[in-house]
Amino acid sequence: MDREKYSILVVDDEESIRRLLHKELRNKNREVLTAADGAEAMAMVRSHWFDVIIMDLWLPDVSDLDLLIRIRESIPHIEVIMITGHGDVDIAVEAMKLGACDFIRKPFNLDRLDLIVEKAHQRVLLSRENAMLRHSTGHERRQQVRLIGNSQAIREIHFLAEKVAPARIPVLITGESGAGKDVVARLIHSRSPLAGHPMVVKNCATLQKELARSELFGHVKGSFTGANESREGLLSFAHDSTLFLDEIGDLPMEVQASLLRVLETGTYRRVGEKEERKVNIRFLFATNRHLAEEVEAGRFNEAFFHRINAFSIKIPALRDRKEDLPLLVDYFLTCLSPDSTQYRIVERAMACILNYNWPGNIRELRNVIERSIILAENGIITERCLPREMVESADAGGTDLTLASVEKQHILRMLDFHGGNRQKTADTLGISRKTLYRKLLEYAIE
Ligand SMILES: Nc1ncnc2c1ncn2[C@@H]1O[C@H](COP(=O)(O)OP(=O)(O)O)[C@@H](O)[C@H]1O
Ligand SMILES: [Mg+2]
Repeated sequence: MDREKYSILVVDDEESIRRLLHKELRNKNREVLTAADGAEAMAMVRSHWFDVIIMDLWLPDVSDLDLLIRIRESIPHIEVIMITGHGDVDIAVEAMKLGACDFIRKPFNLDRLDLIVEKAHQRVLLSRENAMLRHSTGHERRQQVRLIGNSQAIREIHFLAEKVAPARIPVLITGESGAGKDVVARLIHSRSPLAGHPMVVKNCATLQKELARSELFGHVKGSFTGANESREGLLSFAHDSTLFLDEIGDLPMEVQASLLRVLETGTYRRVGEKEERKVNIRFLFATNRHLAEEVEAGRFNEAFFHRINAFSIKIPALRDRKEDLPLLVDYFLTCLSPDSTQYRIVERAMACILNYNWPGNIRELRNVIERSIILAENGIITERCLPREMVESADAGGTDLTLASVEKQHILRMLDFHGGNRQKTADTLGISRKTLYRKLLEYAIE
């Protein structure tokens, strides 16, 4: 059988063990890498594809089974084998419950270790096959979610999403329309332990007021006029997965109160039914409204607001993080390209893009790039490929002056980004420090 080469990571703080396992396990089918502690191991599994990890139960920088938990959560396809000592039976059992596939005792029986590793790898291959079968029968594909951007704001959002993903708590995502709320919701779901289940999405603006409760909770036959049959609601479909309620500001207030109960007790009732049902759902919410003001105005349930606002992620408008534009433009040029043409954007067109204030945020940017690709000639995007109003707004006040002001704004943003460090700013801008000083003088910055 022709087998592909696979990678094993050995995590142990004792150098002699790392060396021994490296020597013994490496063969023509296997590559063996090593890490000395939990931090190093996490960094490695993020940057390298491993099928099997062999890790010591006791590591200097992580407590108990933390590393195992983190790896199972963030990279569920990896099979984990624990290295245990004599008195570790209880904790080894605990490790198996948390998803370790096997354990091996010190001192090692090397033949047995070889067998365990082989078995683990077989299981990886099998579950990969199963996953592919599932996809081909219509299960939601686990696409990679890309949240592009290098601004401080986007990096902070990545950090928060990564942190909150494994927790069960609800998250409120706020931001203008087109800013990326859906992307952040999908990002959180994809990094959560529920990622294997399809996320259920509902836009509350599309719920009919009278039927909102029934759509969410379901109803029993005869509970209201027109309820000819009993029906399950969204909550039951989202059981054991994530429910993303978009435009939560549009959910009728009475239903907000019932949903608060679900968040607090994990139980709900179908319309017309006494019996309580239990559900296990991770809730994500999004809105482009200012909910605190809605509460003030009496249009949003205050207790519900405080509950969902406990962990919130705010996505700033694109106009407030224009340093993300070059990356986003590149990204869309690549992923929207119908063939493998490398589109190029001329400087003046880029200046228009940087100068525009993007009321429709990234959705608008995406549309603009999509359109410009169609209008491009020989893969080159000029101002003529951009919507007229964008070019006109950039032209207002004379092109030279506008370009200068774009440059000035860009320098200011990069300076800010690097905390005022001029060398780093110059490096990012691709100019010398001297040139940067000259420009700072010219633009009367400081
Ligand atoms: N940071 C980002 N990186 C890549 N694509 C993004 C990003 N933010 C938004 N998009 C894309 O822009 C469009 C609008 O984003 P979406 O999440 O639907 O916005 P919202 O839900 O806030 O209205 C989508 O096509 C989405 O894929
Ligand atoms: Mg949206």
